[in-house]
Amino acid sequence: MKKTISLILALALCVFVFAACGEDKKETNTLTMATNAEFPPYEFYEGEKVVGIDAEIAGVIAEKLGMELEIVDTAFDSIIPAIVAGKYDMGMAGMTVTDERLEEVNFSDSYATGVQVVIVNKDSEIKTVDDLFGDKNYTIGVQTGTTGDLYSTWDIEDEGLGKVSRFNKGADAVEALKIGKVDCVIIDNEPAKAFVAESENLVILDTAYAEEQYAIAVSKENTELLDSINKALKELTEDGTLQKIVDKYISAE
Ligand code: ARG
Repeated sequence: MKKTISLILALALCVFVFAACGEDKKETNTLTMATNAEFPPYEFYEGEKVVGIDAEIAGVIAEKLGMELEIVDTAFDSIIPAIVAGKYDMGMAGMTVTDERLEEVNFSDSYATGVQVVIVNKDSEIKTVDDLFGDKNYTIGVQTGTTGDLYSTWDIEDEGLGKVSRFNKGADAVEALKIGKVDCVIIDNEPAKAFVAESENLVILDTAYAEEQYAIAVSKENTELLDSINKALKELTEDGTLQKIVDKYISAE
């Protein structure tokens, strides 16, 4: 009897260990990346697939970690809360490192520079960034939760110098600009170029609004992953892979 019980226990343990291993394997072999695929050339759809600079960099990072990349497309302002909640391993979305975000997540080393620029219609009376701080009270279109949103809210709306109109997608803000519902759009320079290239009537102001650094967001709990990502980024920078990916999507001016 004793023997049978031990045998059953041993069997049960085996099953348990196997199940645990199986689960563990599944979890650790997939690297989940939350993004917002409305942001060319960093992340956008090509057919059904999310492609772009971030998607490709994440792909080679995953490869280095011996993991399979899974990209999840979600609203931009839900990326950080989801990372904090442990829903995804990392957030990569042309995401700017800011002090506020650093309170919630860790950021990897920076892999790109972004510039907040202002898009206007060609005949706009807004000629420089300074005009936004005048007494005209313009309406500024932004993507919700982006640095373009945060800066213009703090600097302009909260100061009573204008109004901020928030959209789910940068492209929607640009559409609103085309039909005169907003007076300008504040957005990162590379998507700005992509949007302006598609439209005859839009220009990007010569003066920039702000310069910033893009990095990968990881939960504060997961410093091991952060270290591995930084190590991979370093190697990919040193061997030129990162630059190659950027060059594929952004032509030198
Ligand atoms: N760099 C800006 C920020 O971090 C905008 C990023 C928007 N990215 C996106 N995939 N929609 O707030």
